Amino acid sequence: MTTERKATLSIDGQAPVEFPIMSPTHGNDCVDIRTLGGKTGLFTYDSGFLSTASCKSKVTFIDGDKGELLYRGYPIEQLAENCNFLEVAYLLKNGELPNATEKTTFENTIKKHTMVHEQLSKFYSGFRRDAHPMAVMTGVVGALSAFYHDAMDFSDADHRNVSFIRLVAKMPTIVAMAYKYSTGAPFMYPDNDLDYASNFMRMMFGNPCEKYVANPVLSRALDVIFTLHADHEQNASTSTVRLAGSSGANPFACIAAGIACLWGPAHGGANEACLQMLEEIGDVSRVGEYIKRAKDKNDSFKLMGFGHRVYKNFDPRAKLMRKVCGEVLSELGLENDRLFKLAMELEKIALEDPYFVEKKLYPNVDFYSGIVQKAIGIPTEMFTCIFALARTVGWMTQWEEMITDPEYKIGRPRQLYIGAAKRDVVPLTKRA
Ligand code: SDX
Repeated sequence: MTTERKATLSIDGQAPVEFPIMSPTHGNDCVDIRTLGGKTGLFTYDSGFLSTASCKSKVTFIDGDKGELLYRGYPIEQLAENCNFLEVAYLLKNGELPNATEKTTFENTIKKHTMVHEQLSKFYSGFRRDAHPMAVMTGVVGALSAFYHDAMDFSDADHRNVSFIRLVAKMPTIVAMAYKYSTGAPFMYPDNDLDYASNFMRMMFGNPCEKYVANPVLSRALDVIFTLHADHEQNASTSTVRLAGSSGANPFACIAAGIACLWGPAHGGANEACLQMLEEIGDVSRVGEYIKRAKDKNDSFKLMGFGHRVYKNFDPRAKLMRKVCGEVLSELGLENDRLFKLAMELEKIALEDPYFVEKKLYPNVDFYSGIVQKAIGIPTEMFTCIFALARTVGWMTQWEEMITDPEYKIGRPRQLYIGAAKRDVVPLTKRA
């Protein structure tokens, strides 16, 4: 990892200072500047972390120029095609795909933890029925930390493992309960005879009075959507989880912090915002008006579902999501879905527009995910909860990698202070 190569910094003619260069398995070399402050008294300034590697990681790799996404070295396209979400969850956590026995054992372990404590369900009644479900998720997931005092020593791998299992197993139940609560319908208990995605579909759309049979095409589509959202390197919400966890906070509180960050429309909230944008555009004839607004510096409007900090080519997940979208719409006889056709037309027009081409703005994972979730029957305001459900696997994996890293210490960035120079307080009686 650390090479013989050095980066040399010479400042104001002073003696040059050298820093080691680290080479990764894939991706950009990194200058190790951990000694910069001590050697030079200087900090680096990198607002938004455009050029900063915050950690070493073995979990996920993204090549923004190639439009490549690898989970533990495996291309997302192959995982989406050949594995289910729980296999991918096992891979992300353990570093290797499970064999048949390991897969069955893992799935059965997850099934044993799908129910939530009956007291936890009482938290929902404290919310207004029209509360945004992401507000409910932030509260309820954070509250989980009050229920598991039996496994709070995270230096113990067993405590970390059971916390991973509990969160991955319970997120579908918690998300479905947030939806049921918003409708006034009764909560559904998990049915452990069902696979992960079908169990979630039943808790979302079933009721205690009738047998619910999930459409296998829709369940498979949802399972693929979970896989596409499982992890994504050091994005804003994952970095939030890592930073919260670096203080030693418990994983339930850290995941709640990640959920809060994901809610933002620039991040995971974009899928909800994208569908609202498509509804607002309404018709292909109005696409030009919105493309014009997106290009207008004086207009804060951004084309939701377009652009990405890392992908400066296509987002491989967007391509897979568009395929899933087509399969779901075809299964439901919605090939002529108004929003899907509008989205494809918007994508075509945007990708031909010089502004989007030169700024390398391509559809991201959120562009089609709203359309396919809406077709499956998931309400718009629940889209980011689905994202959080899936990303819990990545958040927990990255959290564990952080606290088991021998170099781990509390994250404590510095700043470029541009406030008032040091000055004395003038007593009130003498202030003008
Ligand atoms: C996710 O990080 C991850 O990995 C996130 C994620 C994950 O899996 O965790 O991939 C999930 O968050 C996907 C992104 C979802 N967000 C959206 O779709 C919201 C719309 N997109 C933008 O807000 C924006 O593209 C970001 C936030 C996604 C990326 O922002 P950057 O990299 O900080 O880029 P930027 O805002 O500096 O934009 C660069 C230029 C700017 O113009 P200039 O100042 O250079 O003139 O491109 C413009 C921006 O104005 N631009 C857009 C645009 N996105 C960027 N213009 C119009 N529409 C857009 N969508």
